[in-house]
Amino acid sequence: MNFELKSLDAAGCASARCDALLVLVPETAATGKDALSGWIAQARKSGDFDGKAGKTLALYQPQGVAATRVVLAGSGDGSARTVRQAVLAGMGTLRQAKRLVLCCAGPWTEAALRAAIAAVADASYVYTATKSKAEPRKLAQVVVAVAEVAKARAAFDQAVGLVAGVEFAKEWGNRPGNHATPTLIANAAKSLARHPGISCEVLGPREVAKLGMGAFMAVSQGSEEPLRFAVLRYNGAARSVAPTVLVGKGISFDTGGISIKPAGEMDEMKFDMCGAASVLGVFRALAEIRPAINVVGLIASCENMPDGRAVKPGDVVTSMSGQTIEILNTDAEGRLVLCDALTYAERFKPAAIVDIATLTGACVVALGGVRSGLFSNDEALAAALLSAGESALDPCWRLPLDDDYADGLKTNFADVANVAGRAGGAVTAAKFLQRFVGTRAWAHLDIAGTAWKGGAAKGSTGRPVGLLLAYLLGQAATAAPKAVARKRSVKA
Ligand code: BES
Ligand code: MN
Ligand code: ZN
Repeated sequence: MNFELKSLDAAGCASARCDALLVLVPETAATGKDALSGWIAQARKSGDFDGKAGKTLALYQPQGVAATRVVLAGSGDGSARTVRQAVLAGMGTLRQAKRLVLCCAGPWTEAALRAAIAAVADASYVYTATKSKAEPRKLAQVVVAVAEVAKARAAFDQAVGLVAGVEFAKEWGNRPGNHATPTLIANAAKSLARHPGISCEVLGPREVAKLGMGAFMAVSQGSEEPLRFAVLRYNGAARSVAPTVLVGKGISFDTGGISIKPAGEMDEMKFDMCGAASVLGVFRALAEIRPAINVVGLIASCENMPDGRAVKPGDVVTSMSGQTIEILNTDAEGRLVLCDALTYAERFKPAAIVDIATLTGACVVALGGVRSGLFSNDEALAAALLSAGESALDPCWRLPLDDDYADGLKTNFADVANVAGRAGGAVTAAKFLQRFVGTRAWAHLDIAGTAWKGGAAKGSTGRPVGLLLAYLLGQAATAAPKAVARKRSVKA
């Protein structure tokens, strides 16, 4: 799908030859003298259409308009949120369109433009990778009509770059476990190194053993598929600028291991690599947008399987940090692969570390599918991620890290256990991870509820690529060279 930015006024949109014209109409749209404005005014007057968010009115071959189909989509107050609602509603009635012109009966804001482009892509995405008779996405071209191309260019380019990233994340998230093995996921990371500014190195079982990643290896040991540890680098700033390190949980399939999961909906555990997919997606977007920042992406990928050689409840392993871990539940495997990746992250002397993981069912219970869980030992980092989530319409919500939550992780047989009781499961998982970041500014995003949807609309959402990219682009905007002293609210 190709996006194009064009300078077109209302009359220009009315005469644009296309299958479909999607007109966003805010509640308080000004009326002009052109045919389109005429239709809108008439629809408003008759009471058939009021511009309320998500309301639509479809017209077929209306007089004075060149497009075959016209859909007026109410965009309410014109905010990013209501614009997204408008586009999703409008696209629902335009399934057949190949060439779409998208315009706004009122001024675009940058936020609205971004939200509209993301929503067009979201609504038209089609998964094809494992279908024999693939029906690819119908929508081939989207012309975004604005008053002044030069003024909209930056926001447009960012939005189109984000779409590439979100779709890459969705694609890898959606692939079944046998089509997204740790090796294939690492190959996807390697494929990103074709883009200028990106490099990638992949470690296998031998290198990971040499590093002493005993926790990561323990999860992988019940599987026939060899583990992979991918190290992606994006260099857009001077070498002296400390990078942000993103760490993605890449469990290509989570059976639970010996602590095996119930059969119902277990297929959805193919999505247990969505943290890794979000790292891939961010790098795909960075390749397009090329901001002046440095980013490292770490992907720890393996399967979690039951087997004669699998790790057992009660086994004690030694992590790369030297801390020993009693694995009381082999289904709490995400924190085991992440803890070694977090230890590895320290070598980049990062400005901040952000891990992204489908980590706990408890987070789904707490926040559902609306907001991702956010944990952080750093006030500024937490605030930046929260506001990035709001602006990208990919929100998160901060949860606590009081040390008292770590009490349940105590054990008589190792430095730490990998699970505490059922209560506060999302927080105790975060407390486990916190042991491996020291005093470095760190945040953990639990995306177990937001990375994919179940039911009829089953599929990866591409979240939180939008949040992460908004955060990183914010860093580019406020680029302060090298680490400044940071205040932390919670002592590590
Ligand atoms: N990948 C799961 C978390 C998960 C479960 C995400 C359901 C989305 C839906 C993770 O590896 C896991 O199994 N976590 C356990 C932890 C428990 C054993 C402490 C959980 O949440 O049940
Ligand atoms: Mn698990
Ligand atoms: Zn898991």
